[in-house]
Parts: sequence; C-alpha cells; structure tokens
Amino acid sequence: DWIMRDHIAEAVEAIRQQVGDEEVILGLSGGVDSSVAAALIHRAIGDQLTCVFVDHGLLRLDEGDMVMDMFVGQLHAKVIRVDASELFLGKLAAVSDPEAKRKIIGGEFVTVFKQEAAKLTSQGAKGAKWLAQGTIYPDVIESGGAKSKKAVTIKSHHNVGGLPEQLGLKLLEPLRDLFKDEVRELGVALGLPPEMVYRHPFPGPGLGVRILGEVKKEYADLLRRADAIFIEELRNFVDKESGKTWYDLTSQAFTVFLPVKSVGVMGDGRTYDYVVALRAVQTSDFMTADWAELPYALLKKVSGRIINEVRGINRVTYDVSSKPPATIEWE
Ligand code: XMP
Repeated sequence: DWIMRDHIAEAVEAIRQQVGDEEVILGLSGGVDSSVAAALIHRAIGDQLTCVFVDHGLLRLDEGDMVMDMFVGQLHAKVIRVDASELFLGKLAAVSDPEAKRKIIGGEFVTVFKQEAAKLTSQGAKGAKWLAQGTIYPDVIESGGAKSKKAVTIKSHHNVGGLPEQLGLKLLEPLRDLFKDEVRELGVALGLPPEMVYRHPFPGPGLGVRILGEVKKEYADLLRRADAIFIEELRNFVDKESGKTWYDLTSQAFTVFLPVKSVGVMGDGRTYDYVVALRAVQTSDFMTADWAELPYALLKKVSGRIINEVRGINRVTYDVSSKPPATIEWE
C-alpha cells in the first residue's frame, strides 16, 4: 500500500543520510526484527551492509539454510555465516541448569559476534563504522522504564546492550519507532515471505532451552525433526469456523525434548526410546497464557507422524499447563 511505500522511501532516505558512504554491520538471527532491519538497510545501502549470522546449532530444522537462501539467494545481501555449533555444544557439555545454559549461550553468542565484527572494523578507513540492530519501540520502552521496578528475574533474556560502545561503533536502529505489527507489515512490503514475518517468537537460546537438562547433538537432531512435523501439521490444519490454520490460531507452538526413555512396542519388538512434549499456547502478551485446545485429529496426526518418522522417539505427550503457574517454555 501507499502509506507503507512512503514509509519505506522515507526510512531509506534517512538511513542514507545517516550513514553516508560508511560500512554497516548487522547481527542476523533469523528472527523477525533483525531480518526486517537487514532488508530495510540493504534496500537503502546495498553492499555497504554486511550481515553476520551466528549459527549456534540450536536453530530449527533447515533454519540456517533458509536464512541464507532468503538474504543471499533472494535479496543478494552480503552475509557471513559463522557455523559455531561445535563451539556451543562443547561449552554446553555437562551443563544442565537452565539459567547456566542461557548465560553460556548468550555469552558465547556475543563473543563470536564480536570476533567477526572485529574483523570487519579493523580495515582502517574502509572498516565498518556502524552497528545496526533491530530494536523496536517496545524494546526501547522496556529498557527505559521497567528497570526501576524491582522485578524478579524468572528467566534471563540475553540482550546485547553496550555492544556498539565495546566495538567502537555508532548505533543504527531503523525500527526504533515501530510496533511489532508495523515491523511485520514493513517486512512484507520489503519482500520478505509472510510465513517468516508472521512466525511465532523463537527464544534467543533456541533449542538450548527446549532440550531439558544437558544439551546434546543427538537430542537436538531428534527434536528438530519432531518439531518440524508439529509445525508443518499446525500449518496444514485449518479450523473450519475461522478459516485460519492452527498455526495462526496459536501464539507459540513448539516441541520439547525430554531426556527420559519409555517403553514402547513396534512390530514384534520392544522399543525403549525418548519422549517429547508438544506445547501450544494462546496469549496476547506472553505474560499469561492458556494452553491451546488443539483438535484431537491434529494431535493424533502429529503424534502418529513423529513416532513413525523419527526413530528414537516412541512417545508424544501434550502439555496442558497454563501460565501461570507454568511458563511457556519448559526451562
Ligand atoms: P516464558 O517461558 O517465560 O516465555 O513463559 C515467555 C516468552 O519469552 C520467550 N523466552 C525467551 N526469549 N530468550 C528469549 O529471547 C530467552 O531466554 C527466553 N526464554 C523465554 C518464550 O519463548 C516466550 O515467547
């Protein structure tokens, strides 16, 4: 629409004015905000933007390839993909406490990103001068206001505050005035696929907090395949009354890996394999949430497919806990 096109033209002009002919670095996570920021800045300054995509190995099935395909294949943006999965898995070995895992993942993320950024800034006059971030308006309010209140930290979300100063870079935040809905509209107008722009939120530590206890590659691989089936079927199942898919009728849905084994039977044999839990919630603010009353036919399809297609998982459960007292994620 016209309003959005005007907005893009204005935003593009503002970015060009701000950065001139200097180089910009942006940390791409695959999430909506950093993706839209990248697409907008790329529209404005093209190859003056270099995206750094740190793959911690805790992303969903094929997600890293999808990010590369979208930004390099389709937008022709410059993206440095850092495959740090072994590094992260190594640091996480034998760590089972949820907050300890979050700190390790957040900390390593910053370390790896800084190393890559340092390479890009250390090229003298031609080196990068700007760090772009996908900060949106609610983030601005949150970091300003909420600090004064003495809130109990249930889960520490890692944020990369202070990074521009540490890297000696100027901060570029082209989404600072926008609400989430506006960011999504902007993303679609910039040509990002609607399925990606309207995706459920995904936590920074990724599958690291969806594998209970110690994170292992074997667990992550099983979880990725099970979760892909769940998400695929949520996108397939349409609710007749509303005409919407169950993916769109839920605010967040995912699979959790439980590192316990249970007995099953397959053919003439006994199996002794892992368990997963399906989680789907409806919420407006993520502070409270109800478990979603998914149709039995959908649950049946998902469970049948996971057990038949993912060797190593022989039992699927559905989480019927609301928040509070449970949280949305299991860790
Ligand atoms: P909980 O589990 O606290 O989740 O009910 C509320 C929302 O926050 C997300 N979440 C995280 N996001 N880093 C993130 O970026 C984290 O460590 C983290 N933990 C929870 C969760 O996915 C849900 O949307």
